Amino acid sequence: MRILVTGGAGFIGSNFVHYIYRERPDWHITVFDKLTYAGNRENIAGLDENRVAFIQGDICDEAAIDAAVADVDVVVHFAAESHNDNSLHSPRPFVDTNIVGTYQILEAVRKHGKRLHHISTDEVYGDLELDDPAKFTPDRPYNPSSPYSSTKAGSDLLVRAWARSFKVAVTISNCSNNYGPYQHVEKFIPRQITEILEGRKPKLYGSGENVRDWIHAEDHSSGILAILEKGTLGETYLVGSNGEKNNKEVVELILELLGKDPHDYDHVNDRPGHDLRYAIDASKLITELGWQPKYTDFREGLKATIDWYVANEAWWKPQKQATEEKYKELGR
Ligand code: NAD
Ligand code: DAU
Repeated sequence: MRILVTGGAGFIGSNFVHYIYRERPDWHITVFDKLTYAGNRENIAGLDENRVAFIQGDICDEAAIDAAVADVDVVVHFAAESHNDNSLHSPRPFVDTNIVGTYQILEAVRKHGKRLHHISTDEVYGDLELDDPAKFTPDRPYNPSSPYSSTKAGSDLLVRAWARSFKVAVTISNCSNNYGPYQHVEKFIPRQITEILEGRKPKLYGSGENVRDWIHAEDHSSGILAILEKGTLGETYLVGSNGEKNNKEVVELILELLGKDPHDYDHVNDRPGHDLRYAIDASKLITELGWQPKYTDFREGLKATIDWYVANEAWWKPQKQATEEKYKELGR
């Protein structure tokens, strides 16, 4: 099996590359990544070059993506602009990569008759009230809020249209908030860990009541592998591991695990249009494909993630100052 992993030098893509490298030693992996500010070759360093190839390229580049797709059996498409705050400040790259880039991949898989697994997000469904008993299910109507989530929703709709109109072989997964190693310090959990490690206070948007449904990136990877091997073409699967926590709880737990006063954080300006709550019903993946998450204890998974950032300062330090300068401009 030869797979092309777009965005494989980013956070979840690189976790997936490590997971497949370990779990499927007979598969060949080609990573296709533009290496934007969010991509880092260090994330996939040290892997056997006979088993993992790297192409630096832009998924919007028709010729480059066509040549890469021609060479493989399956494309697993992670590449995206992924940060909501950036999309509120500068939406254009989100339209280019998430929509036009996905279009180029669809055209290439259509031309070469290859399978595509498209990686998407629970944010396409919009948000839930705190007391809503319903969770997101695959048939829920789309209702995205931000430039990021609307471009991801647009990319999903293109994938569905190419499947129906051109019979392209696709599967889609929409996952909840991931945490784990190699996550960029712009994101909530790594930002708070590294703020504390640099001697500053964590920064909570608004009241901190917003709820996210946390899943370890390795569990996301095992969900994708289950879909690749056992999923039904044309179907959408939701990936989540019952990890609902509000942001205040998460910040307080990070402070506690780092031996600090759990209440020693700042409230900063809220994100415009901030989604209140996400929650995934993953029963289709569990019952139809037999998937089970491994990291069911959030405290343990978070502790391991904190330990990784403590041990890998050389990995995150170079990104930290520029990230905080961007946040200063946003007043957050
Ligand atoms: P990330 O920002 O850490 O990584 C994105 C990667 O894509 C980077 O390596 C970047 O260099 C690459 N990339 C960006 N634009 C590109 C382009 N035009 N051409 C080629 N490569 C390009 O993102 P992430 O958090 O790892 O998210 C990966 C995917 O998973 C995204 O599609 C995202 O929507 C989805 N997702 C993320 C989460 C989450 O919690 N982070 C949850 C559900 C779904
Ligand atoms: O739900 C899946 C999505 O999860 C993915 O599609 C996105 O790619 C990914 O970035 C993530 O989106 P969020 O906007 O939920 O993640 P973020 O890490 O930016 O923020 C998580 C929550 O924490 C959110 O409610 C905003 C809040 N927050 C964030 C930062 C950076 C803070 O309170 N303080 C912060 O400093």
